[in-house]
Amino acid sequence: MDDKLMLMIPGPTPVPEQVLLAMAKHPIGHRTGDFSKIMEEVTQNLKWLHQTQNDVLILTVSGTGAVEAGIINFLSPGDRVLVGSNGKFGDRWAQVSKAYGLQVDTITAEWGQPLDPEQFRAKLEADTDKTIKAVIMTHSETSTGVLNDLETINRHVKAHGEALIIVDTVTSMSAYNIPVDEWGLDVVASGSQKGYMIPPGLGFVAVGPRAWEAYATAKLPRFYLDLGKYKKDGAKNTTPFTPPVNLFFALQAALRMMKAEGLESIFARHQRLTHSTRAAIKALGLPLFAPDGAGSPAITAVAPDRVDAEQIRSIMKKRFDIALAGGQDHLKGKIFRIGHLGFVSDRDILTAIAALEATLQELGYESFTPGAGIAAAAKVIANS
Ligand SMILES: Cc1ncc(COP(=O)(O)O)c(C=O)c1O
Repeated sequence: MDDKLMLMIPGPTPVPEQVLLAMAKHPIGHRTGDFSKIMEEVTQNLKWLHQTQNDVLILTVSGTGAVEAGIINFLSPGDRVLVGSNGKFGDRWAQVSKAYGLQVDTITAEWGQPLDPEQFRAKLEADTDKTIKAVIMTHSETSTGVLNDLETINRHVKAHGEALIIVDTVTSMSAYNIPVDEWGLDVVASGSQKGYMIPPGLGFVAVGPRAWEAYATAKLPRFYLDLGKYKKDGAKNTTPFTPPVNLFFALQAALRMMKAEGLESIFARHQRLTHSTRAAIKALGLPLFAPDGAGSPAITAVAPDRVDAEQIRSIMKKRFDIALAGGQDHLKGKIFRIGHLGFVSDRDILTAIAALEATLQELGYESFTPGAGIAAAAKVIANS
């Protein structure tokens, strides 16, 4: 059936009708009072979302561009950075850092396991000469469905006293409580096609005062991604370059929806989606890839051992029009991932789990009692 696709991948995520309709307008000039009013409103609402009084800058980039901007504006060639890497995105920030001539020290964990905050503490404590200029990490590692312990790692960075913390919150911003000012996070980057409920194309970078101090002396090359330009023009409610005007209409509508729902409710909903999905997967006898306590609020990765992950995805798509994500890099064919980020409700989880049960039956997988997954998800939903 046409037009019935249910997107359960970690991005792009589903876009609400109000947001789609907001985009279905003629673009307006970006050097106009009307655009400035939108810019003013979305900037205020982005600060609300980030729980910050400091800057949240809007760039025309994907998530990678936002994180790259977050790295290159505050560092100089040869600076030592500590990069947490336990998946594809952590690896990417190490690659970006190397591409810009930074001296990269990595802290790794096996894909599917969270980063160990103790390893950060040990490296940072040993750095008595304060050579580490930044710690770069991914909060929700989308490739594996692991949520890293940002709060504890950040505490160790704060104890170091010199290093900035630069965080990829591409699939945790607006899904998980990240009080940017309270935790003193220096640079926080995210992208529009995730928890923001709008299509791809905008990146967001929150920048705190310590990061701006570093910006003043940072020497890595920058031009389009020079955040100083965005700060200066943002203060006048404008942008340095032509923005995707219709995505700003979308952002305005989506942030209004988020404000109406409220931060606490948004976080509680994502927690419910995560817990109900994980409970259902366990009840179906399928192994979860991320351990309990470290499950991402955006995505649940499943590593089926007695049934083929790609066959599951294929039937889910062909029969039920539900798009699930596959594994990336060496996890290709080994895991499948259920996205529950952004405009996703309890009903979507119940639907996806019911379709998954039907798919497993079609594949002849018999290690579960039919209905067990739905019952487990429904129990979590009913009790939270
Ligand atoms: C955690 C994380 N960081 C960065 C990115 C990269 O974003 P993009 O593909 O928008 O450049 C993604 C994309 O899925 C992501 O999940």
